[in-house]
Amino acid sequence: MRIRSVAALAGALMGLSALVLPVAAARAAAHGHPPVVVGHRGAAAYAPENTLASVDAAHRRRITWVENDVQRTKDGELVVLHDTSLARTTNAKKVFPDRSPWNVGDFTLREVKKLDAGSWYGARFKGVRVPTLEEYLDEVEHNGQRLLMELKNPELYPGIERQALRELRDEGWLNSSHLTRRLIVQSFNADAIKKVHRMNPAIKTGFLGSPSVADLSKYAAYCDQINPPHTAVTPHYVTAVHHLKGPHHRRLELYTWTVDDAKSTVRAAGLGVDGVISNKPDVARKALHNAGY
Ligand code: G3P
Ligand code: CA
Repeated sequence: MRIRSVAALAGALMGLSALVLPVAAARAAAHGHPPVVVGHRGAAAYAPENTLASVDAAHRRRITWVENDVQRTKDGELVVLHDTSLARTTNAKKVFPDRSPWNVGDFTLREVKKLDAGSWYGARFKGVRVPTLEEYLDEVEHNGQRLLMELKNPELYPGIERQALRELRDEGWLNSSHLTRRLIVQSFNADAIKKVHRMNPAIKTGFLGSPSVADLSKYAAYCDQINPPHTAVTPHYVTAVHHLKGPHHRRLELYTWTVDDAKSTVRAAGLGVDGVISNKPDVARKALHNAGY
């Protein structure tokens, strides 16, 4: 078709949008809300994971939800770090050469704060530090973001569930607006999530993993979400999760990870997942938009 004028072009575009928009509307109607996009470890594709720089990288891309990993130092301070060891994401090996395997639980906060948690990722992040949970919560709050908080390896840190909840409370994260809209606590450790639910049943919780369909109802007693890797998600599994109600009498949800490309994002959305957790949350959001969600 040859377009001979601006008016004809406008007409053609209107015709095209008339074809496209009903598809988007139909998708939205079929799936309800589009999946929530959560920045994994902040926005780990754009800044050193689990740092304040990563939270801000997500914020700059207008990503509301961020995910993190909480562990504990030798002197009992909660910090945000993914690996048990400091070796991969800091210069701990260089600063403390005799402290192999550099487990965070063997270092005081003062020692952890000496470490550079940015240079491994890129020179422009030199001097970025491992944040305490308190610092991290402040930044997320300052940015008006929401937090999917993972208790990482809680079996290594007895009592971390109670301590984390105390810190959330002290920082104002257990008031009703945070509880209803801005906080989810998740873990691969089901016992830790059970404890969190028992200590404060108002907190929204998630179990990381893919329990068998037969076992899902046990998790639904204390988990609002089941959060499996995206490769494990099938239509049957999503239906089975959605068939159950969680402890807050709402449909059990499913957030899936780690969804870093457009194709996987659109596939997950097509399966009806409630959230996608992504190192490239802007890519996931754009893919959803382009697919009409
Ligand atoms: O939130 C999902 C994801 O963080 C789980 O895996 O190893 O990145 O903590 P991992
Ligand atoms: Ca995590």
